[in-house]
Amino acid sequence: MNEVVLQAEGIWRSFKSGPEKLEVLKGVELTVRRGELVAIVGPSGSGKSTLLHILGGLDRPDQGRVILDSCDIFRYPEERLPELRNQKVGFVFQFHHLLAEFTVLENVALPLLIAGRARNRALVQAEAVLDEIGFTTRLRHRPAELSGGERALVAVARALAKSPVVVLADEPTGNLDNRTASGLMELLVQLKEKGRTIVLVTHNETIARQAGRRLVLSDGRLKDEDV
Ligand SMILES: Nc1ncnc2c1ncn2[C@@H]1O[C@H](COP(=O)(O)OP(=O)(O)O)[C@@H](O)[C@H]1O
Ligand SMILES: [Mg+2]
Repeated sequence: MNEVVLQAEGIWRSFKSGPEKLEVLKGVELTVRRGELVAIVGPSGSGKSTLLHILGGLDRPDQGRVILDSCDIFRYPEERLPELRNQKVGFVFQFHHLLAEFTVLENVALPLLIAGRARNRALVQAEAVLDEIGFTTRLRHRPAELSGGERALVAVARALAKSPVVVLADEPTGNLDNRTASGLMELLVQLKEKGRTIVLVTHNETIARQAGRRLVLSDGRLKDEDV
């Protein structure tokens, strides 16, 4: 069995809504091994995004630990967390968050440029990642000139650019038609087969079933259900 690259232990997270306290996560446990493609499924409002943000160090739990690539991330000093996140996590957001003024190639190169890579090298590497996922034309187009499916691919390429330990994807197929969504899932399966580790959240059962492992977020906890 491959090594564990991401582990969540006893994750609790609540939000205040007026006088009420909304308990969203109530003791989530999760173990992800290298090369797994894990789909976390649950209805809207069940806490999927909250959990994903905590797994990637974008939000802090009230209680619990996240061990990412042997780092106990919430014990890191606050100011070092962004650097750790940049090194180890690739995020794919629901609305993809591509920069409108930049070309496809520049969007994918951005994490590399932020990490201090020279522009030429960053662009060459970005092109290689896009090539890996079969995106070989329209590299100099801007996001607005692409279809939803193409934008999703660019977001995946950007998440992969720095070879993160894990890719965390929040409803990556959320705004795509069924066929395009299914195609994107096939790509994620291929990436998993090449050894990438991916955790995605979705409210779409059909999509979740394409992943190797499907977990259900229900009443604030994760339950393992074999596909
Ligand atoms: N920053 C926040 N402040 C207050 N409530 C929040 C915040 N983030 C999420 N919530 C609430 O937590 C619940 C889970 O939200 P979320 O994780 O976005 O669910 P999902 O991604 O499964 O749709 C929702 O009821 C949402 O309104
Ligand atoms: Mg969400």
